Amino acid sequence: MTAPYDPSDREKVVAKLPAELRKELKVRAAELGKDIQDAVTEGVEAWRRAKSLAAVDTSGGTSFATYLPAGLYGELKKDCTARKISYNQGIAQSIRVWLDSHPSPRPKPPRVTGARRIIFGNQKGGVGKTSVSAGVAQALAESGHRTLLIDFDPQGHLTKQLGYELLGIDDASLAKHMLSEAKGELSELLVPIKGGDFEEHLWLLPACKDSFLLDAKLATSRSVRIKETALEKALEGLEQDFDYILVDCPPSLGYSMDTALYYCRTRDGEEENTSGIVIPVLAEDSSADAYDMLFDQIQDLSEDMELDIAMLGFVVNMYDSRKGYVATSSLDEWQNIGEPPVLAIVPELKDQREAVRVKQPLLVHAPYGEQSEVMRTIARRISA
Ligand SMILES: Nc1ncnc2c1ncn2[C@@H]1O[C@H](COP(=O)(O)OP(=O)(O)OP(=O)(O)O)[C@@H](O)[C@H]1O
Ligand SMILES: [Mg+2]
Repeated sequence: MTAPYDPSDREKVVAKLPAELRKELKVRAAELGKDIQDAVTEGVEAWRRAKSLAAVDTSGGTSFATYLPAGLYGELKKDCTARKISYNQGIAQSIRVWLDSHPSPRPKPPRVTGARRIIFGNQKGGVGKTSVSAGVAQALAESGHRTLLIDFDPQGHLTKQLGYELLGIDDASLAKHMLSEAKGELSELLVPIKGGDFEEHLWLLPACKDSFLLDAKLATSRSVRIKETALEKALEGLEQDFDYILVDCPPSLGYSMDTALYYCRTRDGEEENTSGIVIPVLAEDSSADAYDMLFDQIQDLSEDMELDIAMLGFVVNMYDSRKGYVATSSLDEWQNIGEPPVLAIVPELKDQREAVRVKQPLLVHAPYGEQSEVMRTIARRISA
């Protein structure tokens, strides 16, 4: 596993590229499990070795930014001057060279087990469940995956951050569907998340305050195993329409968490680590204590019901090494666990808070910011 890039070894490069070329690059990089910045680096290196190359149409281009190893852009600029083309054309040709030499892998056979189900859970509040689930969903959708994001937290932060209202307390809702108290189809509640390169691929199932009562209602339900299976039963009808279903869990270890854990178990016939839980954490001791409790809950449920629940990895969020030894030693501890792995380290950055303030998806507000890049890295790792 490669660590997220070290900004000190890279320099930011901005070019104007047509939307089609940007999209082709994002999709191909995702298909091949490669970071966009590494793909462009390989492209520039191959382009520098190549002789005569056809011009790439860059008309109508919009801003594209990536990070190249320090010094490489300077070399490319020299070559562009020698070849009498603009720097922008040099980057566009480099990307074309990489795309042409890295064809799309053959389509995989259709998945018989339905959508991949990934939940973002940690009973500790404010660690980044909502931000990371939303960012990763946008990144998956941007790579062409049909993605559904579920706001499973009665606080409704995700719904509000994306500019939507919570569902009315007496309206149909996910909780009512789970308890067989709703009329109509669950699909009628989905709303599209617009903007960015993910448009038409990303949908939200908004929250409803009624899920504050979900734990209590599940606890008293007489149906056999409903506590664990309710979420799966409610979402069953939607799975055929999506490649990924991501669940932003509430900060609790109650029955809502059990039903979400059950939903992300590895199903019969499903490949290991296809579905599972991603655990956002902070680099501090209280996060480690919280993880022990979550780990116990996962173990108990797995043993009780003979389930296999894959822990896909940690995301160490809001990391700031300037906080000193507590932060750096705590990061080491997360990394030393080894299994599950640390999928990414997300620095403490302003992009996320700004995006929330303006009620825009992160990948629309700051598509080329460091935080969006990390979200793409996580998406690539969990979809590999
Ligand atoms: N990498 C980051 N840098 C700076 N701020 C961040 C980062 N990630 C998240 N935040 C901010 O931290 C706060 C908590 O994040 P978030 O809501 O995603 O956590 P959560 O685990 O979902 O919280 P809750 O347990 O209440 O559901 C939010 O204001 C969010 O915008
Ligand atoms: Mg949240």
